[in-house]
Amino acid sequence: MPSSAPIGVFDSGVGGLSVLVEIRKMLPGEDLFYLADTAHCPYGVKSVEEIRERVLDVSEYLMALGAKMIVVACNSASVAGLDHVREVHPEIPIVGVEPAVKPAHDVTRSGKIGVLATDMTLSGKRFLLLVEKYGTGIEVYTQPAPGLVELVESGKLDGDETEQILKEYLTPLLEKGVDTLVLGCTHYPFLKPVIARIVGPEVEILDTGTAVARQTAKVLTQKQLHSDKPGPGRTVFYTTGGPQEVSKVIRLLWSEPVDAVLKAEV
Ligand code: DGL
Repeated sequence: MPSSAPIGVFDSGVGGLSVLVEIRKMLPGEDLFYLADTAHCPYGVKSVEEIRERVLDVSEYLMALGAKMIVVACNSASVAGLDHVREVHPEIPIVGVEPAVKPAHDVTRSGKIGVLATDMTLSGKRFLLLVEKYGTGIEVYTQPAPGLVELVESGKLDGDETEQILKEYLTPLLEKGVDTLVLGCTHYPFLKPVIARIVGPEVEILDTGTAVARQTAKVLTQKQLHSDKPGPGRTVFYTTGGPQEVSKVIRLLWSEPVDAVLKAEV
């Protein structure tokens, strides 16, 4: 695999852009291929078997496009399919994401943390093991948040509807006295301004974008896969949905110019 090959990053939709932006910052010279699996979004309400298959199919699609490494920029997909795709493809490095329970454990002062994520993430074995490992001595309150992914996918990052739904999910956590809130879905960082307004300045909000970018860089170093191409890397966008509609949301969330969004047949 040539080190000049791209890194393939994917999510059920545009949420993984919150991870991609950190990878772009940390690795400016790498080519990045981002795939939004919009035709199958949201993942969080589907069966584990279905998502495990999507994770494999989409990863293999990115590999066929020449990816030297895969980043599963989705908590639900990581819970459902990371172990499986790693098993099937031991020849390629695959990085996943997990809710920031460990960092939350380290920063909480009240000893009470809240985790907002999809049902799939919160009921998955990976998450339960994470809480078992890092949740000792603290209270971990979880809140499934159906509907938030759809809000981000339709570009409704603020406004009455978004605020109302978020209040419904955040109020029970605030009533428990959490002082640290983990955004356990890569779509949610795009809602952070509204979330911050609701929870107030006393609550620390954590996501995983930077940690995943750091891990991606570390794996590139370990495998000697850093790109040696001169100049800034390209960012190429793909979707399994309608390229025109999806490009509108990508342009809303991505601060650099977007050439085109290509149709992915997978
Ligand atoms: N961004 C995905 C995650 O991190 C969203 C899941 C979904 O599509 O429901 O979990």
